[in-house]
Amino acid sequence: MFDQIEARPADPILGLSAAYKKDTNSNKIDLGVGVYKDESGTCPVMKAVKTAERRKCDVEDSKAYIAQAGPEGFIRHTLNLNLGNAHPAIRDGRYSTVLAPGGSGSLRLAAEFINGSAPGSKIFVSSPSWPNHVPLLSSSGLTLEEYPYYDHATHTLDFDAMMEALKGAGKGDLVLLHGCCHNPCGADLNNDQWQAVTDLALANGFTPFIDMAYQGLGDGLDEDAFGARLMAEKLPELVICSSYSKNFGLYRDRVGAVTIVTSNSETAQAVGTQVVAKAREIYSVPPAHGAFLVEMILDDEELTSQWNEELTQMRDRINGLRRELVSKLQERGVSKDFSFIQNEKGLFSFLGLSKEQVSSLVNDYSIYLVGSSRINVAGINQANIDYLVESIAKVL
Ligand code: LMR
Repeated sequence: MFDQIEARPADPILGLSAAYKKDTNSNKIDLGVGVYKDESGTCPVMKAVKTAERRKCDVEDSKAYIAQAGPEGFIRHTLNLNLGNAHPAIRDGRYSTVLAPGGSGSLRLAAEFINGSAPGSKIFVSSPSWPNHVPLLSSSGLTLEEYPYYDHATHTLDFDAMMEALKGAGKGDLVLLHGCCHNPCGADLNNDQWQAVTDLALANGFTPFIDMAYQGLGDGLDEDAFGARLMAEKLPELVICSSYSKNFGLYRDRVGAVTIVTSNSETAQAVGTQVVAKAREIYSVPPAHGAFLVEMILDDEELTSQWNEELTQMRDRINGLRRELVSKLQERGVSKDFSFIQNEKGLFSFLGLSKEQVSSLVNDYSIYLVGSSRINVAGINQANIDYLVESIAKVL
């Protein structure tokens, strides 16, 4: 049965960690996989999470399965984070939220649910997008179509081209949007552009499908949710796939959620039953550990404010590193203008280097980044930034 199976190459993003670990160069830098790293280069467990974990250990008295949709408090907090406490869609009960195994699990569960009810539906995906969006969504049965998003020549969002392409999306189609901190380019829609896409969705009838994996790491928890909140208010239908990997550092605990906003509360209830039934077909019930931690932190005022402070520090550090990288590259006298990096948001930006230059950074300088020249900005620190700048200058 398995004799004909051939080995696959390593994942283009996750495979970088293994290559980095094997490298013996003491100057090596890991700018690959998108996890937040602190100044010491580690992906820390947040203090609020540690405290919640200790408490949970004391109070948890059962490991029985949890409710199929996830803990009630977790669902409430997810809605409040994504949509804001007083959002009309929450007030009107026009939503169904289901805990899912991480951001990827939530994307896949939503895609499976949609493909189950409308097989082969078309989803428009930005070019570029997180490379794993393509296999993850297409293997659910959805049909993918790209829309232009980032202009590599000008390092800016090509909004006109995006809107022109999205005019081709109509009723029954989905449009994948990055809620904030676009992965891989870091170039986000501004508020006016969110409004314009919302107007187009309203006029043409397509359903936005928002991947909200980095809320809080761009401009702030509320600011980063502007688009999702606007769309949930103005549009009859919306899908939000959220993740707690990055903003709570719960990567390996796999905590995410699917929120489907519908035109009325009866439909929302029906949708909820279908989404949990789909999850039952795939993995049965969701993992509980991380969801309980989120619930515990957001239930407790002190822990919430500690988490908020830690998240703010993370965001400020990333934005500070963006500015520092740009100014050090300028000081080093590189001819290429990298100032776009300080206008972009979240963990990622493209350096805008050629395949050959990227491969030289990896092979000659032990600087690990994705082949597209995407870097994880949080992998930069005071101990490695000068070596990084010097290496970029040399490959240029
Ligand atoms: C990334 O883009 O690096 C992260 O989302 C991690 C992953 O799973 O690819």
